[in-house]
Amino acid sequence: MTYDTYNIPKNEKVTSWVFAGNATDFTEEGGECVLIEGEQIAIFNFSSRGEWYASQNICPHKQQAALSRGMIGSEKGEPKVACPFHKKTFSLCTGKNLNGEEAAIKVYPVKVEEGKVYIGWH
Ligand code: FES
Repeated sequence: MTYDTYNIPKNEKVTSWVFAGNATDFTEEGGECVLIEGEQIAIFNFSSRGEWYASQNICPHKQQAALSRGMIGSEKGEPKVACPFHKKTFSLCTGKNLNGEEAAIKVYPVKVEEGKVYIGWH
């Protein structure tokens, strides 16, 4: 069996992978919101980098459920998402607020296996 794994934290430390959807269900160069165990998770298909990322969907600035609709891009090579409301920007690798203002966001490991997307949950 072959699969691709991506980033955050070390995937070998993940004990529970949760199915999030088929890879083809996710828009290229954008995000989708998926409900996992009652929590909104933003999953990003960063196709131009050949990478996937996941984070909480709630923006810590004004608690808007919006990050999945944010603009993705890169800053000095680091993938990031900008909230569509007030453009607060977060690293998709570390969750750090790149404006140095709001709290960091929670980010999750993602793996794609045989066309299915999984989030490292625990
Ligand atoms: S609610 Fe996200 S930047 Fe303000």
